[in-house]
Parts: sequence; C-alpha cells; structure tokens
Amino acid sequence: MMEKSFVMMKPDTIQRRLMGKVLSRFEEKGLQIVAVKMMHISPGLAQEHYGEHCERPFFNDLVEYITSSAVLAMVIQGDDCISMIRKMVGATNPKEADLGTIRGDYALDTGRNIIHASDSPQSAEREIALFFQDSEICDYSMPDSDLIY
Ligand code: TYD
Ligand code: MG
Repeated sequence: MMEKSFVMMKPDTIQRRLMGKVLSRFEEKGLQIVAVKMMHISPGLAQEHYGEHCERPFFNDLVEYITSSAVLAMVIQGDDCISMIRKMVGATNPKEADLGTIRGDYALDTGRNIIHASDSPQSAEREIALFFQDSEICDYSMPDSDLIY
C-alpha cells in the first residue's frame, strides 16, 4: 500500500554535513521525497511531536537537542514505506543499530541519533500534519519529458 512517512534529519545531521548522504539512501531505495522543509523547531512543536515521551527522564534533553539548531523535515512516500524506513534508520540506540542502517553507520549515541522516522501509519499521519500543510506535499507525476531533459 502506498504510504507516507514523516522523516526528520536532526540538528547533528545538518551540523555534520550528512544531509546529502542520508537523503541519497532514500532516493537510491526508490522512495519519493515529496516534501522537504529546513526549519528551527519551536519548543512547543518539539514537545508536541515527542508528546508520547513527556514523562520520560530524557524528555527535556531531547527537546533541547531537537530545538538547538535547524532540522530537515521531510515527507517520504513509497509502497509500505513506513516500516521500510524504520528498517533503514535502524535501532534507537546507534550502538545496537546494525551496520548498514543510517544510525548504525553514522551515529554513536542515543541522544544524537541523527534521524527521526514515524513508527506507524497513525504516527505518520499525526506527524506529517504537525509539520506540513497538504498543499506543501508534492507528487512525482511526470510532466512532458522535454520540460526536464
Ligand atoms: P523513541 O521514539 O523511543 O525512538 P525512535 O527515535 O527510534 O522512534 O525515542 C525518541 C527519541 O528520544 C530517540 O530517537 C532518542 C531519544 N531517546 C533518548 O534520548 N534516550 C532514550 O533512552 C530513548 C529511548 C530515546
Ligand atoms: Mg519514536
């Protein structure tokens, strides 16, 4: 089934100049990047996005980290892509993430694990709506190829 997932490169990805590499993995897999927005997240938006974790001891550090600098928020589309992207992202703790996954290859600490991806169709819908208007999501329907090449 065609799905959309919310994916966000966290501040460390941008600071470490890893955006292109991470984006390439999704393109090379055949997924479609249908929306992209570089932005500074407000504390309110961060708290809402990570609302399920509000009672956890790491919550304040997480909000501080995610609001510390620009992030790249995205919507990625593809067949059954929500669980596929989670597989590509790897385990939350990069030390446990398999090599070959994004976190396994590029990160070391849970608190600096470089990327977020929706964990279910319900979270994808909620998270996309938090960050994007419907009108900001594009599609890949092909114009006449003379217009591109
Ligand atoms: P979570 O939703 O459990 O992980 P994921 O990003 O894989 O869906 O947690 C959200 C973020 O909170 C996680 O990416 C990093 C941070 N976090 C910590 O800092 N310490 C922790 O012990 C956990 C579980 C998460
Ligand atoms: Mg999560």
